[in-house]
Amino acid sequence: MRHFTSIRQLGDLNKALAAAKFVKENPFADQSLGKNRTLLMVFFNNSLRTRLSTQKAALNLGMNVIVLDVNQGAWKLETERGVIMDGDKSEHLLEAIPVMGAYCDVIGVRSFARFEKREDDYQEVVLNQFIKYSGRPVFSMEAATRHPLQTFADLITIEEYRKNRRPKVVMTWAPHPKALPQAVPNSFAEGLNMTDYDFVIANPEGYDLDLEFVGNAKVMHNQNEALKGADFVYAKNWSVAEPSHYGQVLNRDMDWTVTADKMALTNDAFFMHCLPVRRNMIVSDDVIESPRSLVIPEAANRVVSAQTVLKEILKSL
Ligand code: CP
Repeated sequence: MRHFTSIRQLGDLNKALAAAKFVKENPFADQSLGKNRTLLMVFFNNSLRTRLSTQKAALNLGMNVIVLDVNQGAWKLETERGVIMDGDKSEHLLEAIPVMGAYCDVIGVRSFARFEKREDDYQEVVLNQFIKYSGRPVFSMEAATRHPLQTFADLITIEEYRKNRRPKVVMTWAPHPKALPQAVPNSFAEGLNMTDYDFVIANPEGYDLDLEFVGNAKVMHNQNEALKGADFVYAKNWSVAEPSHYGQVLNRDMDWTVTADKMALTNDAFFMHCLPVRRNMIVSDDVIESPRSLVIPEAANRVVSAQTVLKEILKSL
């Protein structure tokens, strides 16, 4: 694997999960693989988990790590080609990217949806520029439409906690005060479509995800019906994906908050969320603090997912 921008690039999921299990049980087995190799992590957006877990993964592999926060201390970057640069942006991404490539062996990029043009977001313009111009293997640390390292950690977590071969997994939309991208739910749906689990997406009318990601999932607009018999409840907010209202917030219905009453409808389900989470908007305090909440092991598995992917990339160098 050279680039990693979609969970599908893992190929055989069972093999990837077995590779992740090995990494989790033997975190320092491949210390020599990253020796004298440098990872550059480029952040256009904030992060806690991705920043720390990916750094830890690289250190476990013996790599050196450089972190660049583009909006803190670097020159402000222009990303559009053809723009007359007479404003506040001092450098173009098309020079900055190959320069970054000159300082490292592997690049991780976080570049969220901007909600300016849907086609730019859905064509992953920034991430693809890194792939085209850096000359280095590039992996996504959450891009405009996908967050594959998160999804891999989610799949690892479900694999660790599932009690039956074909669990029912319900990804439910939940309210949030701000417009959030579709990257996490798109990617989670893409990953669940690689399994044979019973996968249901629950969201209000108007919030259906792009069909490219929904795949074979059953989409329901009644959350209570969807939650019945669930073994895993994966909560997430997302803004409107469809082109006519792209990136808008049309609904803040607090009836969609995941509460103890909602969890009582399930098959004693585990609760999952990628974090950060808005308590008592997305999920009530008692649910996230309950013994069935997996949010901390899920976040801990971010090291495992990043290390498994980085290991494959290093092997390709
Ligand atoms: N889940 C996740 O990617 O967290 P951060 O935004 O804190 O990196």
